[in-house]
This record gives sequence, C-alpha cells and structure tokens, in this order.
Amino acid sequence: MNQIQHVAIIMDGNGRWGLKKRKSRNFGHKIGLKTVEKVLKQTIKKKIKYLTLFAFSTENWKRPQKEVNFLFKLLENFLLDKLSEFHKNGIKLKIIGKKRFSNQLNRILNNAEKKTKKNKKLQVNLALNYGSKSELIYAFNKLKFKKKAINEKIISSNLFTKNIPDPDLLIRTGNTHRLSNFLLWQLAYAEIFFEKKLWPDFNENDYNKILLKFKKIKRNFGNI
Ligand code: IPE
Ligand code: IPE
Ligand code: MG
Repeated sequence: MNQIQHVAIIMDGNGRWGLKKRKSRNFGHKIGLKTVEKVLKQTIKKKIKYLTLFAFSTENWKRPQKEVNFLFKLLENFLLDKLSEFHKNGIKLKIIGKKRFSNQLNRILNNAEKKTKKNKKLQVNLALNYGSKSELIYAFNKLKFKKKAINEKIISSNLFTKNIPDPDLLIRTGNTHRLSNFLLWQLAYAEIFFEKKLWPDFNENDYNKILLKFKKIKRNFGNI
C-alpha cells in the first residue's frame, strides 16, 4: 500500500455550482469553503502531512473585478474567523505564490504564517496568485546569477515548495481535465484523479474513496 505524504487539490467548480443552484458564482465560492473545512479535517484524520490547495491562479486575475474582490474578501474573513481553530488543530499555513494583495490581506497572511509556523500536524500550502510557469521563471532568474550547474535539486529548492515533498496525488474537482498551470514541476510523478463533482459537492466520502484508490496503485517511477 502506498503511503500518502502530500495531497494537492485543484478546487474547481464553485462558480458553476452557484449558478446551478440559481444563485451567483460568488455564492458557490462561499459554500466551497465548507468543503475546504471538511477536507482539512479529513486530511488530519488520515495523518497526511501536507495538503496544497489551489485557491487563486495567476490567470484568475482575468476574471471580473467584482468576483476577484469577493474572493479575496472571502479569504480574509475566512482566515480571521478560523485561524485560531486551525492553530489549535496543529495546522501550519504557508502561502505559495507571490503575495501581491491589499496591505490588509498581506498582513493577515503574514500573520497567519507566523502564528502557525511551529505547528506540526498538517502543513497547508495555500496557492494564491500562484502559477507554475511564473514560479519556474522566478527560480531560473535567481539561478542564472549563480555560476553553478543547474540540477533537479537546485531547481526544487528554489521553488515556493522548497523543502516540501512532491505531491503523491492530485485531485481536480469540477469535471475538467487539465492542470491550469498548477505545480507543473512538482506533479511530474503524481497520480491524478479527476472528479466529476463540483467542489461544493465534494465530501469526505469522495475524498476517502480517492485516497483508498491511490493506496492500491502500482507506482513505477519508470521502473517495472
Ligand atoms: C473555483 O472554481 C476556483 C477558483 C478559481 C476560485 P471556479 O470559480 O473556477 O468555478 P467554475 O469552474 O467557474 O465553475
Ligand atoms: C484553476 O481553476 C484555479 C483554481 C482552482 C484556483 P480555473 O477554473 O481557474 O481553471 P481554468 O481557467 O478553467 O483552466
Ligand atoms: Mg473553474
């Protein structure tokens, strides 16, 4: 049985879910947070050490300003509301992506990282303003000044995910089969699960089923 150290999730389908319920896309984002809480609890229960959640991509800035503003306000309130609980439960929060938000949100994010940095139970990497290509470009630009040969280890240790093992599995909800510029380097050998359900409908049971399936996969890593 495969061990699971790191799960990565593309939480997709909030907008469609909100519209399907005859409400707004933003309503879908709001209800999507309930799934985040469910998945966090379950991940701790399963003793998984790392969870990376794709919350906002570098491409998501193209969305209408109103939706973008709503998403960041939602995140702000979510953190203000839940941070103590996360801290109590041993969650360490880390932001991956460039922190280019309002001063207020930057402050909240920095504070959340600082407050939880010694926690050991589960590290949650929140991908915010994250894009894999820009992450790689940033790393290569840093490395070009060092007159050293580039190798795999050096690249890995210059990404936002430095010191974090690569995800063992990737889950994408929302019935869309693409990576959308998420962890392109880190997912090189991940097992990928595309889930038909929209993110707000995804639950513990769906998550457990995927984890169980993953455990039984024969992972070759090029070998036989
Ligand atoms: C949530 O899903 C992911 C975010 C970018 C916040 P979407 O907002 O992409 O929902 P759909 O795919 O349009 O339904
Ligand atoms: C990926 O979802 C980004 C997040 C889940 C945050 P999108 O809904 O933005 O992806 P595309 O644009 O459909 O590929
Ligand atoms: Mg989407």
